[in-house]
Amino acid sequence: MSAPPHHPRSVIVTRLRAAGCVFAEDEARLLISAARTPADLAAMVDRRTEGLPLEQVLGWAEFCGLRIALDPGVFVPRRRTEFLVRQAAALVREPAALVREPAAVSRKAASLPRKAAPGLGRPSPVVVDLCCGSGAVGAALAAALGRIELHAVDIDRAAVRCARRNVADAGGHVYEGDLYEPLPATLRDRVDLLVANAPYVPTESVELLPPEARIHEPRLALDGGTDGLVILRRLTAAAPLWLAPGGHLLVETSKRQAKPTVETFARCGLVPRVASSRRLNATVVIGTRPTARADVSAASRL
Ligand SMILES: C[S@@+](CC[C@H](N)C(=O)[O-])C[C@H]1O[C@@H](n2cnc3c(N)ncnc32)[C@H](O)[C@@H]1O
Repeated sequence: MSAPPHHPRSVIVTRLRAAGCVFAEDEARLLISAARTPADLAAMVDRRTEGLPLEQVLGWAEFCGLRIALDPGVFVPRRRTEFLVRQAAALVREPAALVREPAAVSRKAASLPRKAAPGLGRPSPVVVDLCCGSGAVGAALAAALGRIELHAVDIDRAAVRCARRNVADAGGHVYEGDLYEPLPATLRDRVDLLVANAPYVPTESVELLPPEARIHEPRLALDGGTDGLVILRRLTAAAPLWLAPGGHLLVETSKRQAKPTVETFARCGLVPRVASSRRLNATVVIGTRPTARADVSAASRL
């Protein structure tokens, strides 16, 4: 659709630029192509100049080459989280990736099995996306891996509604509640991949985030407590109860938080390593549940 006469493209670009949109030309093109009517376009430009994230205005975000439906008030999936998806998918596609990244692998990882972990050879690996938001991570894993048994959880009703749309094609189940609480007990000891991009911004740093996030994304999606690791610690402590032997927990975190996150993983009986991407400014901590049952007893002591 081309811009209606009373909203010429150049006027839209000028308004977007004045509102601080760095990629005003690209944004104008996207808004024009998404609007169904001139009134629709005018309303979308207004919302964007008021500071709403572009993705919430458009109603979708691009993530791992997919178009993820996005509702207002739901966390916008970030490019850096594509690294979490890639790391998780690699563990299923090529489990030997466990030993193929010497620069990023901690010494503890050297003791990991070099063969496919049990469970990951199954035709439909069981994947849980905790703190799923729009469901982007789970949807991208389903697209990358083909057949998976996908379960996703979020505590926020708007996110759950949005995630249901995004994982429907993959036959995914989405539950509303606090971390593992709403998951069916039948998943215990069966999860091959547990992925989480949970909130990890320290409380006092939330105020320093750009207004798009601070004002238009729910605080619940950002605030990770005093040191940013409060939810990650809770999530990690219970992970060994849900992971299959040889299954993996992958969490996105920051470079600074990687060390304490690795320590938490080790305390919970997971064998940790760190993977990072300078290009995406992304850090992921990966923990593997040892295959021997006795090794996870530390988790139950937490
Ligand atoms: C940083 S956002 C990430 C969303 C999604 N994983 C992504 O990468 O786009 C964190 C999400 O965690 C959810 N959340 C926060 N605390 C939670 C909890 N205790 N249990 C389940 N979900 C929670 C928020 O509602 C939010 O959708």
